[in-house]
Amino acid sequence: MKKIIIAIDGYSGCGKSTTAKAVARALGYTYLDSGAMYRAVTLFFLQNHINPNIPKEVSTGLQELDISFHHDSSNGIQQVYLNGVNVEEEIRGMQVSSKVSEISKLGDVREAMVEKQRKLGKKKGIVMDGRDIGTVVFPEAELKVFMKADTDIRAARRQKELLERGKMVGIDEVRENLEDRDAIDTKRAVSPLVKASDAIEMDTSFLDFEEQVSRIIELAKERMN
Ligand code: DC
Repeated sequence: MKKIIIAIDGYSGCGKSTTAKAVARALGYTYLDSGAMYRAVTLFFLQNHINPNIPKEVSTGLQELDISFHHDSSNGIQQVYLNGVNVEEEIRGMQVSSKVSEISKLGDVREAMVEKQRKLGKKKGIVMDGRDIGTVVFPEAELKVFMKADTDIRAARRQKELLERGKMVGIDEVRENLEDRDAIDTKRAVSPLVKASDAIEMDTSFLDFEEQVSRIIELAKERMN
């Protein structure tokens, strides 16, 4: 069986990463959360007071940051490191969530992240989730899935996820953040969030999670022959 690239794109809070992780585990593939990379850049910019409107500050900042992924040996969960420090918790908070779309619309930021994502995926056998994986990062991906879901359902899921991480955020704030990010992500000039013409659309509003995962695994297996 040949190794393939599985690209899972879609709106914020549709369950892309939970699905992608489960698919990767079942296939013995690597999982890569491209959103975590944009979140880590955002955290770095916030920590270092980098003004996203000053190109020189942005390019210098990008040269100074190093993003890497490590697996927690106790539970196999992927952790994101920024310049050697585990930032997994910090990048999921509302401070980063409220700024990440502004930072990820910058051309220089996208160029640097896309280059890194292509390097990480070049051996194939990877499931990557994001916004532009099937359109820009790997337009040649053998399987592309585009996820969407009802906004209220997405907000409720995201709120629960935050709560599980010990973060209490009101439902209105969560919903507004999702809507704001969707708007910026779909309208930006550089690689906006759009469904690739050859992507399979999945509305996850009422789909059973197991069903969703097994459907993608089935589609992936068809493409491995
Ligand atoms: O997947 P996520 O919600 O953690 O992503 C956070 C933000 O990062 C998202 O609102 C837009 C940006 N992003 C992007 O522009 N391109 C990607 N491939 C992944 C994420």
